[in-house]
Amino acid sequence: MTDQAEKLRELMKSRGNPNNGGGARGKTRIITVSSGKGGVGKTNIAINLAMAYAQLGKRVVVMDADLGLANVNVVLGVIPRYNLYHLIRKQKTLAEIVVDTAYGIQIIAGASGFSKIANLSEEERRTFIGELGALANADIIVIDCAAGVSSNVISFIAAADDAIIVTTPEPTAITDAYGIIKIIATEIDSLDLGLKLVVNRVHSVVEGRRVAERVITIAGQFLNLKVDYLGFVYEDPVVHAAVVRQKPFLVMDPRSKAAACVRHLVGRLENVDYRDGKGIPQFLRKLFGGDA
Ligand SMILES: Nc1ncnc2c1ncn2[C@@H]1O[C@H](COP(=O)(O)OP(=O)(O)OP(=O)(O)O)[C@@H](O)[C@H]1O
Ligand SMILES: [Mg+2]
Repeated sequence: MTDQAEKLRELMKSRGNPNNGGGARGKTRIITVSSGKGGVGKTNIAINLAMAYAQLGKRVVVMDADLGLANVNVVLGVIPRYNLYHLIRKQKTLAEIVVDTAYGIQIIAGASGFSKIANLSEEERRTFIGELGALANADIIVIDCAAGVSSNVISFIAAADDAIIVTTPEPTAITDAYGIIKIIATEIDSLDLGLKLVVNRVHSVVEGRRVAERVITIAGQFLNLKVDYLGFVYEDPVVHAAVVRQKPFLVMDPRSKAAACVRHLVGRLENVDYRDGKGIPQFLRKLFGGDA
C-alpha cells in the first residue's frame, strides 16, 4: 500500500500543467451524488453538474457507481464496451474503460450485476486503487451513487470532498433523505464531511428553501450534523426531453431553468473552499483505509 501511496503522490505532484485541463490547485475534487429514495434526479444532476464544470474548462469524469442499475451511459447515449467490472476483474485498465463523450466529459460506466466494491478482495481493491489513481489527471470526479444506503455508497460518500444528497419535495423523498443522512452521521466521522443538500423538482425558490430547512433542522437537532443547502433545481420538462434525446440538458437547452439552476450549484460549490489534503490520495485512503 505504501508504494501505491508514493505513486499517487507523484501523480498528484505532476499535475498542474496547462495541458491537463488546468488543475491549478493540484488536486482532484471528488463529488458524490446520492439520495435516500430512488428516481429523484441523481444521474441527471451528476451529469449536468459535470457538464457545467466542463464548460468552466475543467477536466471532468463521471463515474457511475450504481453497480446494480448503471445508467449514466444511457442518459448520454454512449454504449461503452467495458465498464468497472472489467477493471475490477483486471481484464481492462482504467484508460481502456474511460469513455469520451461528445460533450467534453468522460465517463466510467457502471458494472451491472456487480453489487459491492466494498466486498472486493484485498488484491482486487488494490488493483482498483491503482487504476483509479490514474484519474488524478481529472480536476473533478463526479460519482453517481446508487439510491439508498449500501456499504458501497457509504464508502464513496466517506471518501468524497463534497457529498451531495438529492431530494425532491415529496414527503417520501424527504424522509428517505433524512434516513440516509442519519446513517451517514452514524457511519462516518461527520466532522470531516461536507454534506450538501440539493432539492430537485421544485416549483419555487420558497419551496426549495422550505424543504431544505426541514431536513437541515432535523439533522441539526437530532443528529447534531451540519448539512448545507447547496441549492435547488426547478421542475423543468427539459430534463425528461433531454433524457429521451440522450443529451445533457445543459447542452440541449443551456437557457432552460434547470440548466441555470445547475450552473448555480457549481457556483456555490466553487465558492466553498474545500479543505487541504483532500483529492485522490485522501479519497483512496478514506475509501479503502490504510495508507493508500
Ligand atoms: N428537475 C426535474 N424536472 C423534471 N423532471 C425531472 C427532474 N429531475 C428528474 N426528473 C425526472 O426524473 C427522472 C429520473 O431522474 P434520474 O434518472 O436522474 O434519477 P435517479 O435519482 O438517478 O434515479 P435512480 O435512483 O433510479 O438512479 C428523469 O428521467 C426525469 O424524467
Ligand atoms: Mg440514477
